[in-house]
Amino acid sequence: MTIRAVVRGVGHYLPDRVVPNSEFETLLDTSDDWIRTRSGIERRHFAAENQTTSDLAARAARAALADAGMVPDDIDAIIVATSTADLTFPSAATMVQAALGMTRGFAFDVQAVCAGFVYALANASALIACGQAQRLLVIGAETFSKLMDWTDRSTCVLFGDGAGALVLEAAEGDGTSADRGILATDLHSDGRFKDLLYVDGGVSTRSTGLLRMQGKEVFRHAVEKLAQTAHTSLEKAGLTAADVDWIVPHQANLRIIAATAQRMQVPMERVVITVQDHGNTSAASIPLALSVGRRRGQIKEGDLIVTEAIGGGLAWGSVVLRW
Ligand code: UT7
Repeated sequence: MTIRAVVRGVGHYLPDRVVPNSEFETLLDTSDDWIRTRSGIERRHFAAENQTTSDLAARAARAALADAGMVPDDIDAIIVATSTADLTFPSAATMVQAALGMTRGFAFDVQAVCAGFVYALANASALIACGQAQRLLVIGAETFSKLMDWTDRSTCVLFGDGAGALVLEAAEGDGTSADRGILATDLHSDGRFKDLLYVDGGVSTRSTGLLRMQGKEVFRHAVEKLAQTAHTSLEKAGLTAADVDWIVPHQANLRIIAATAQRMQVPMERVVITVQDHGNTSAASIPLALSVGRRRGQIKEGDLIVTEAIGGGLAWGSVVLRW
């Protein structure tokens, strides 16, 4: 018998304000055509001035709980993957706990930038496997619009805000790849590449900072590392790319998504793509794509899913799960 972390519910929230590429044409030397062809992005959502990451996260959490048919006090733990928490502390996760009216359990944030949701899933799976928690809310939530340098056309057109959430529950499996739930995880980071994607401020430097990225270099690492980690986690699960029903990738760039699928020899018809509508929402992009994929009728119970992501750190990884 193997204890697995099985998905019981999924949900998401996107702020009301939709910003099409054309809005940037009036502010910067850029074009809808450049943004679409270089990144695949057509529009993104931006949070309102007074809307914080935990506001978005709590809404996604409520949607996931409703989908699971659970109430907040059914949950033992909340993990929020984010690099844009409302405050330096307490964690966004404890803010979500309060917003949901939870009176029990524990909550904490995971900060692995765009790979945050993959790291959070790996943590959730381990907490369930060791018996620390039976039911978890795993949320990816970000307000990257608040980190943008609006004069830097090479970054500010790429990112968006949003949140997605999963409810995971412990369930007995027979230890084979036919089990539902998280089957394998694979995590990496390499701090030697910390200057490729970072925010040039923080508490310890007494500033807030703005996002800086060497896009071309990150692109190069992404194409090389994402297919590799997906392959490793599939191998750990005793599976191959031929078994995959859906790749649900981090949604940073359609060209990276396509190159990764090609390296894995998985056709694009089996990739959930939302980057055109959301832009890059960092740690929120995978749970947003899972929720949208489910709503579109793409992801069905029993489907084998591979998620993969890379971002600042560099930090990257993948998760294989059966829905
Ligand atoms: O989620 C975390 C991980 N992040 C990523 O995965 C992002 C990875 N990188 C990328 O997605 C791509 O590298 C970008 C979309 C950021 C850029 O695409 P690229 O094909 O690598 O373009 P580039 O950076 O080589 O820029 C090509 C040209 C440059 O002009 P020159 O030097 O060739 O004259 C840029 O200055 O495009 C120019 N450019 C723009 N032009 C119009 C850069 N940004 C813009 C813009 N509009 N917004």
